[in-house]
Amino acid sequence: MKYIDIAGKKAARIAFGSTNFGGSVEEGRAWELLDAYWQAGGNYLDTAHVYGDFVTPKNGESEKVIGRWMARMHNREKVFLSTKGAHHVLGTEPVGRLSREELKRDSSKSLEALQTDCVDIYWLHRDNPAYEVGEVMENLQALVEKGVTRLIGASNWSTERICEANAYARAHGLTPFYGNQPQFSLAIQGKPDDSSLVSADARMLKMHADTQMLMTPYSSQAKGFLTRYDVKGEEGLGEKARRRFLTPENLAIYARCKEVSLRTGLSVGALALLWLIKQPFPLVPLVGASRPEQLGQVFEAADADITPADRDYIRRI
Ligand SMILES: NC(=O)c1ccc[n+]([C@@H]2O[C@H](COP(=O)([O-])OP(=O)(O)OC[C@H]3O[C@@H](n4cnc5c(N)ncnc54)[C@H](OP(=O)(O)O)[C@@H]3O)[C@@H](O)[C@H]2O)c1
Repeated sequence: MKYIDIAGKKAARIAFGSTNFGGSVEEGRAWELLDAYWQAGGNYLDTAHVYGDFVTPKNGESEKVIGRWMARMHNREKVFLSTKGAHHVLGTEPVGRLSREELKRDSSKSLEALQTDCVDIYWLHRDNPAYEVGEVMENLQALVEKGVTRLIGASNWSTERICEANAYARAHGLTPFYGNQPQFSLAIQGKPDDSSLVSADARMLKMHADTQMLMTPYSSQAKGFLTRYDVKGEEGLGEKARRRFLTPENLAIYARCKEVSLRTGLSVGALALLWLIKQPFPLVPLVGASRPEQLGQVFEAADADITPADRDYIRRI
């Protein structure tokens, strides 16, 4: 596994996500996945207060599963730990719960579930334009000053609001957003099911290239679209991969990726992750898996490289 430095702490170049831990991925399976990722040198775990609740609401089961795993492994200090709060209550309007009280409550429940007193980065899971950015940054500053988190980040925020928030933070001596967590993958995602989700567009990519802000994109493997298509064609696609990614444009990307795969010996799944890692700004893809055998391409990409020419041949930004 190669690593990057994130504000003085060593973090794996590919992060492991946990949306369904404690939900459709039961705890024993989640621990198997965590063990496999850890043994491959992975130390960057991404979770959220709402994870695990999509199937059976249990109040933050994913964080609890990770908390129990870290306690068993005695490895909290070596883990780069990322969690999120401010998500709407499931089934209600998808806008961030960004008041000081809500952030305080969410973050303290997260710390308890994770069995830690501080995370490495705390993300706002959603935005809510009813809040001025100044109020949001002041509320986040309170968490930083309380020692809840070292760094803060914005997930599913627009480029405009991120820039506005960071300008406010810098002008007022507050902690700016260190990272941005949008959807971004080699295969281009169509319209998301939830209009409050944000995919990286040209403007956002330019902002990252200009500022060198960290991006940690989710659904970075396009829900396994390229790998599944490579193995079994359209037949192999899951419902989500088919609905969000099966387009002529993505099939053309697949064809170029396959050419590079045949020439380099790297799988299309590994190439999709390396294409992200090789963007001209710091980027740590967040990957998900429901079975350990799905992690092969992740481990392949953990140590490999591609040339800028191959990156641009596969898909030029
Ligand atoms: N901030 C946000 O709003 C947000 C939103 C979404 C996710 N996230 C974070 O980002 C992480 C990654 O997102 P994601 O899970 O959507 O990413 P992803 O890596 O694009 O998708 C993971 C899914 O792809 C399929 N897959 C992976 N490897 C495969 C393989 N080798 N062969 C076939 N299928 C394969 C599996 O689907 P099956 O399980 O169906 O087999 C797996 O669950 C999440 O766990 C979470 O931590 C954040």
